[in-house]
Amino acid sequence: MRKTVMAGLVLSLGAALALFSQNTEAPYPPAQGEAPAAFDGQTNGLADQPTHAADQVKFDEIEQISDGLGPLYNAQSCRECHQNPTSEGGSQTAELRVGHRGANGQFENPSIPINELQERVPDTETIQATRMSVNLFGDGFVEAVADQTLLDIARDQCHSTHGRICGQVLYVPILEAPGKTSVGRFGWKDQHASLLSFAGDAYLNEMGITNKLFPDEITLLCNTVSEPNDTPGADGLEDIDRFARFIRATKAPPRDAALAETPEAREGSRLFDKIGCNTCHVRTMATAPAATVINGGAFTVPDSLGNKQFYPYGDFLLHNVDTGDGIAVAMEEHYGKAATKRTWMKFSYQDLQTAANKVRTAPLWGVRTHSRLMHDGDSLTLTDAIKRHGGEAEEIREKFRRLKPMQKEALLTFLRSL
Ligand code: HEC
Ligand code: HEC
Repeated sequence: MRKTVMAGLVLSLGAALALFSQNTEAPYPPAQGEAPAAFDGQTNGLADQPTHAADQVKFDEIEQISDGLGPLYNAQSCRECHQNPTSEGGSQTAELRVGHRGANGQFENPSIPINELQERVPDTETIQATRMSVNLFGDGFVEAVADQTLLDIARDQCHSTHGRICGQVLYVPILEAPGKTSVGRFGWKDQHASLLSFAGDAYLNEMGITNKLFPDEITLLCNTVSEPNDTPGADGLEDIDRFARFIRATKAPPRDAALAETPEAREGSRLFDKIGCNTCHVRTMATAPAATVINGGAFTVPDSLGNKQFYPYGDFLLHNVDTGDGIAVAMEEHYGKAATKRTWMKFSYQDLQTAANKVRTAPLWGVRTHSRLMHDGDSLTLTDAIKRHGGEAEEIREKFRRLKPMQKEALLTFLRSL
């Protein structure tokens, strides 16, 4: 049966100085190569092409009840929500997240037992929000960015704006390295730092398929297949290992090169920096050197991802731009039942709550492929999305508002080239 909130009752469920001195070409930290960018379905070199193609078959595969699908699920394949313009892209799918505020004013997950299989959100859950699907292109490079780089960006951003824009860093559990954490960078709430952890989370919460990182079903109602559902194949790899390898091996979203070269887009690009959009939508970033051990010791940056410069137009940090949904990252849903009983280095429940009204800066690479914008998908035009920026971004939004019509149009043309 289709679930309409997610687990826990998700019912269905550096910017080093260079960056701020407008020298937008200087990467942070310095890099030796460029991350390849294209929507061509080809590997970035992390896996060979036949392996990459075979991993895609897994990512695109429609799962069956005999594979462990359900009992509750949002979709039957990763591709259902990640497919535009090719497998791994975003989609128009939005998910519903709900909860309520407890006696102490803090966000709490729904407290209704999932076994009642609510088809509709009960009145008790007064916080309701939708979250758009996102694209996964180039995420291997994002994963390979050193924690220190994100910490430096946060520090420099706060310093250069005299405390007006200070992205929050969130340390999150690396499930394949129990007890270890890293700086979160994936999901609208930065709820994960590791693509393998995210793949395990998605396999359970989107498709109901238990795996080595998420061994507990959300409900045992109608459960017929033995646990965990995701078991190793002949090569010792489970589906979630293949999903993670598939995502790590994809190229970054490419620019629309023809549009990017027009005088109008170039002028828009200049204005984007001039009014300070790049304070949060950081243009250039670089990965850690090859052989750097990340993800709490569970992953070593390979040559194909090491020391590569890429252009995310995002800082992967959490900001309050007045669009917050009040929902804090849920421990059990995103990190599994066992995680709630364990101690995680540098992890703080208070930090999760502090971030309840913050959203990760949407990386703008590939934004031309998104038909609905912002975490909730409520903005249908780029102008609407920009107008919704308040809070930390208010001053910069006002600078946008004061641009001449032709300058606004140029900035939008630049965004359409991303
Ligand atoms: C029902 C729709 C749906 C399905 C199916 C789905 N996803 Fe997602 N995915 C989303 C949404 C929505 C988000 C953003 C979630 C959020 O942050 O709240 C997301 C985010 C992600 C991210 C974070 C990417 C980033 O850059 O922040 C990864 C990785 C991911 N999904 C992997 C997967 C994998 C692997 C599968 C299959 C096991 C999968 N997803 C299945 C909807 C889906
Ligand atoms: C204080 C940091 C900050 C500044 C400054 C900022 N943004 Fe954003 N931007 C964000 C955050 C955070 C989001 C996601 C908000 C959400 O989803 O609720 C976002 C989302 C967006 C989106 C939607 C992208 C998508 O895929 O949904 C666009 C477009 C955008 N910003 C453009 C701009 C432009 C243009 C400027 C300069 C006028 C700007 N931003 C300045 C933080 C910032």
